Amino acid sequence: MESNAIMDQHQSFLGIIKAYLTSRQAVLPVFNSTGLKIQHEASKPEPDTAVIEKMITCDPSLTSQVLRIANSAFYKGLQKVSTVHTAIVRLGSREIANIAILVSQKRQFHSNDPFISGLMQKLWQHSVASAISAQWIANRCGLRKNAQEAFTAGLIHDMGKLLILTVTDAVRRAGTLNRMPSDILLNEVMDNFHSVYGHALLRHWNLPDHYCRIARDHHKTDPDKENDLMMMVRLADKTTNGLGIGMRGVEPCVLAATPEADFFGLSEIAMAELEIKLEDAKVFS
Ligand SMILES: [Fe+2]
Ligand SMILES: [Fe+2]
Repeated sequence: MESNAIMDQHQSFLGIIKAYLTSRQAVLPVFNSTGLKIQHEASKPEPDTAVIEKMITCDPSLTSQVLRIANSAFYKGLQKVSTVHTAIVRLGSREIANIAILVSQKRQFHSNDPFISGLMQKLWQHSVASAISAQWIANRCGLRKNAQEAFTAGLIHDMGKLLILTVTDAVRRAGTLNRMPSDILLNEVMDNFHSVYGHALLRHWNLPDHYCRIARDHHKTDPDKENDLMMMVRLADKTTNGLGIGMRGVEPCVLAATPEADFFGLSEIAMAELEIKLEDAKVFS
């Protein structure tokens, strides 16, 4: 009886989400393309730093956030920087591009509802930690040329969850949902549907195909071992969840024993190094 009631709740909540998404008033999270454009320039063999500087300084809020992070403890040991130009010189255009994409995406993780806002914060921390992990894996495994893409792919792999949280917030505010779903129900819907919604959202944002595929397939039982970027994001995801940087607390996992760590030849010691790196990354949340 009880499980039937839960099923009913699940179905009706999902029905409301689907109805909203197909309605005309649907407001979806947006993707700030500046971050991606900066990443694109930074990933060139010889990035034009003047172009990167201009793209950042055009946006005063982006500028101040980039400077705040460039001066944070994550880059400890470096002298303070007061202009985007010196930040690029000191940290390098690739690091600045990572900061820019983080800052521009963070704006989407906002809600006035404390329950939704708390979940968005957890999702943000998971996304950032996955971005840093995926980039670390690329650099560590001699796939440096993929490091920028790995960072972006890690950051946006779970955007389907952001979509579900944003829609839940909207239908609650509109009164279509008469009470907030429970933590358990919302997490279950996110777990089951974020891949398909994430794929649709990234396509809607017109992002390159490889990012869309990662959003769709990163939980597939049988990973595509031809796809380095996918394997990096899968390992990054397992690493962060294993440390409890996710929506569901600690999900214990022997990382070195995963098919992904095996694929990259990463030992237990290497994975422990990554975990230490993630400790320092808390500044981004
Ligand atoms: Fe996921
Ligand atoms: Fe994830």
